Amino acid sequence: MAKQAIRVENLIKRFGEGDSLVSVIEGADFLVNKGELVALIAPSGAGKTTLLMMIGCVAEPTSGKIWLGDELVYDNEWLTKEQRKIRREKIGFIFQAHYLIPFLNVIENVTLVSQTNGVSEKESNAFAMELLEYFDIADKAHNLSSELSGGQNQRVAIARALANKPQIILADEPTAALDTERSVSVVQMLKKIALDQDVAIIMVTHDEAMLPFCDHILKIENKKVVSHDVPKSSKLI
Ligand SMILES: Nc1ncnc2c1ncn2[C@@H]1O[C@H](COP(=O)(O)OP(=O)(O)OP(=O)(O)O)[C@@H](O)[C@H]1O
Ligand SMILES: [Mg+2]
Repeated sequence: MAKQAIRVENLIKRFGEGDSLVSVIEGADFLVNKGELVALIAPSGAGKTTLLMMIGCVAEPTSGKIWLGDELVYDNEWLTKEQRKIRREKIGFIFQAHYLIPFLNVIENVTLVSQTNGVSEKESNAFAMELLEYFDIADKAHNLSSELSGGQNQRVAIARALANKPQIILADEPTAALDTERSVSVVQMLKKIALDQDVAIIMVTHDEAMLPFCDHILKIENKKVVSHDVPKSSKLI
């Protein structure tokens, strides 16, 4: 069990009730191991963001089970009142838009969460600098986010997602705003992080060019989550 990072069993998500009932996911079962970069693909509106938000303890499922690492966190109800703590400690989020705070400099953006988690300023700054060096953007540490390009800001956003040393990274279309070359470099970076730090990453993408870098693919089909191998040439998107 040591390799398990995310497991969901018979996960169901419906919004509303009666005439306004919207059924999004009807029974997802899958496993993501530590060290894996997994693509999540499906048409718009199929429930990709909803699935990430449930795994990230942000949205409440209708029923089912979710394990994060070896910890069962949801079993038809949250098993702890501390979802926010689990989220802060175990999970890093990366979004399509980087959501950096434009009037803070790069290092302040990266250290925001760890300092909220009670890590000292000295320690969080030192780790943030390590991350920025890893992403080859340390020279911008004291620039405002608003002074960086889209690709540079997305690398800072990835550094920020790693600042609390998460076991799991949930990335919702992290490369949507980037050209193919920059997208490939961000996805290669995510794969390296997964391997180097034994982190599990689920990445939503609409871009077929990103699939070869992934270990496997989760596809939402007919409200079920189906696991596929990475295709050699066939079209999955
Ligand atoms: N809070 C909500 N209340 C009601 N319905 C919702 C809510 N959030 C999402 N939905 C519905 O759930 C479905 C899945 O939405 P979701 O945002 O997960 O799709 P998605 O696959 O991420 O799409 P996209 O590729 O466009 O981002 C949609 O039909 C959406 O309208
Ligand atoms: Mg979405």
